[in-house]
Amino acid sequence: MARYTVVSMPGDGIGKTVLPEAIRVLDAVGFDAEYVHADIGWDFWVEEGNALPERTVELLENHKLGLFGAITSKPKTQAAEELKPELQGKGLVYFSPIVGLRQRFNLDRCVRPCRSFKGNPLNFIRQSAGGGSEEPKVDVVIFRQGTEGLYSGLEWTAPPEDLRAAMANHPKWKKFADCPNEDLALSVRAFTRSACRSIVGSAFAYAKKHGYKSVTICEKPNVLRETSGMLEEVAEEIHKDYPEIQLWSTNIDAQMMWLTKNPEDYGVVVAGNMFGDIISDAFAGLVGGLGFACSGNIGDDVAVFEPTHGSAPKYETLEPSIVNPIAMILSAAMLLDHVGETEKAERVRGAVAAVVEEGKVRAYDMMKIPGGPDVIEKGAATTEQLTDAIIAKL
Ligand code: NAI
Ligand code: MG
Repeated sequence: MARYTVVSMPGDGIGKTVLPEAIRVLDAVGFDAEYVHADIGWDFWVEEGNALPERTVELLENHKLGLFGAITSKPKTQAAEELKPELQGKGLVYFSPIVGLRQRFNLDRCVRPCRSFKGNPLNFIRQSAGGGSEEPKVDVVIFRQGTEGLYSGLEWTAPPEDLRAAMANHPKWKKFADCPNEDLALSVRAFTRSACRSIVGSAFAYAKKHGYKSVTICEKPNVLRETSGMLEEVAEEIHKDYPEIQLWSTNIDAQMMWLTKNPEDYGVVVAGNMFGDIISDAFAGLVGGLGFACSGNIGDDVAVFEPTHGSAPKYETLEPSIVNPIAMILSAAMLLDHVGETEKAERVRGAVAAVVEEGKVRAYDMMKIPGGPDVIEKGAATTEQLTDAIIAKL
């Protein structure tokens, strides 16, 4: 019997392409695991009215470790229209299964490392004062709260009367008071102190373990006084246990601007769910974008690792596949870190770094050409060839 069992959830589109490639790398590095397939994604919404079937939840409950590819999500009305006829008109509402997994297993820490690989043509380049250019080394790890905030699902169009009545007690309610109910939409940004402690606590612990000099809270406390304010308050409290690490605070809007000015100055960055979503994509853009952006969704009991990219439907049926498997492979390396197989994780990242630096085998995105069936004749590697090159470096 293998030492670990990993629940493999390829999902939709290119999730089905990149996940098996990551498993090839895990096998090649000698990770002693077996993989059980689990259903997730659009097909199960259409056929069963549930993109996250209970049997998948049970597998994760049993095995605790998951690798996830990507899913396709569509807007509310379109989702309802694509349900098979027998399921239509039953009031089923589509909900993103990855958001569902985060909530179901309280995967409250979403960790997204954004590190530049030497020689990656997609690295951010900045003009230097002298007129030349410089390539700042980016080594930022985003800790995004994964279960609350604006993505907690506390939303209404035409909110219930008792909710409206309660809101009427708030002094700022006046300007909404006359709005017809069906013309009013609410999305609530809810933070709890315990979740703030969890995300900030793990961010500081990570910074200390890996030698980062600062933890930055990236929020908007001047406007969102209650929620961003609570996260900042908790950070100041936890900072007392880590006097050797600096605690910085930036506003999300200003951070988006400073991002390209001095990305090398940042280390660990903490944000609520939505700002974390935004800032992690922004930092990922400096180090290669979607083909390189990996992540882990970590709870006390269960952890699921996934690339941050989606299902890229336009590349789903391309044969051979041309998408970059590196984001998925780096996510698999995070799984290795998570179970304490650090040496194997380092070997995987080292192999990726070696292939990128050598520059001989590149996916189309690394060649900065538009994707399509013709990229192979232009010299791009297939998904499989790039994985093979990484495996060869192991
Ligand atoms: P996407 O991430 O699927 O693709 C956007 C573009 O990025 C692609 O067209 C492609 O040019 C590029 N790209 C993405 N992954 C790549 C890779 N591995 N290698 C090379 N190029 C890559 O985002 P999009 O098009 O906005 O959404 C497509 C579907 O994916 C939607 O249904 C969306 O809801 C879903 N989605 C799912 C996510 C998840 O599963 N966690 C995250 C983001 C979107
Ligand atoms: Mg995102």
